[in-house]
Amino acid sequence: MTLKNTADRWGAISQLLHWAAVLLIAAIAIIGLTMVDMNNGPSKIKIYALHKSLGLTLLSLVALRLLWRFYAGAPRPVAGTPHWQERIASLTHWALYALMFALPVSGWVFNSSSGYPLQYFGLFNLPKIAQRSEELAQLSRALHEYGFWLLLALVLAHAGAAFYHHLFQNDDTLRRMLPGRRRTADAPSPASLPETPDAN
Ligand code: HEM
Ligand code: HEM
Repeated sequence: MTLKNTADRWGAISQLLHWAAVLLIAAIAIIGLTMVDMNNGPSKIKIYALHKSLGLTLLSLVALRLLWRFYAGAPRPVAGTPHWQERIASLTHWALYALMFALPVSGWVFNSSSGYPLQYFGLFNLPKIAQRSEELAQLSRALHEYGFWLLLALVLAHAGAAFYHHLFQNDDTLRRMLPGRRRTADAPSPASLPETPDAN
């Protein structure tokens, strides 16, 4: 497998960035949904700090991922994909990128406008990106929460589409985002085999 994307496959770096973001978002979401119901105390403060630091890590990862995407490009659509499906997939992908930015940024705005401090894993402080304001805090909090439910809905549709391609279309859509050799490289399809002459 190459580091860079090729015309028909995601390279190692794009795959790593994709699956690292999936794991990170899952952890941040589980922590986020749990922490809001905890009783006030030192554990709650610690878990909020972890949520925020992981969220900021995702923000850097997504920035890196977009830079890599513009540099390394993307594979061609899998052969046989109808144009309308390509359009929907592309719109969904860019919406996912937008939400991967909007969630950490709205969290950061909420944190700043509520007047809370922000540290990265206890290592250094991050600046406030908004003035203290009750209105802005309410707005950014709502964006953070509803943005998360929108992300979840899109991710479910996105992962559902990947499994649909894999199980029912039996094409390379999911395989080319996973490490290992492609099915078509292991076993050429009948169409790609040279014609064998008739026995008689
Ligand atoms: C992809 C990144 C992120 C995701 C998926 C995410 C997700 C969530 C979720 C699901 C909640 C619970 C919402 C609720 O039920 O009320 C939450 C709450 C919260 N998040 Fe995030 N978050 C992310 C990044 C951040 C960042 C970077 C910060 C701060 C710098 C942050 C600050 C907060 C705060 C302060 C709350 C609590 C809000 C409250 O007390 O009602 N989040 N987040
Ligand atoms: C938090 C969850 C996820 C996010 C935010 C996410 C985001 C993305 C984005 C933005 C792309 C487009 C890459 C580009 O064009 O630069 C992509 C591609 C892809 N994702 Fe995800 N993804 C998530 C979860 C999943 C899951 C769970 C699966 C499968 C089970 C999956 C399978 C794929 C596949 C197969 C592609 C490549 C599609 C193609 O080659 O056309 N993703 N993902």
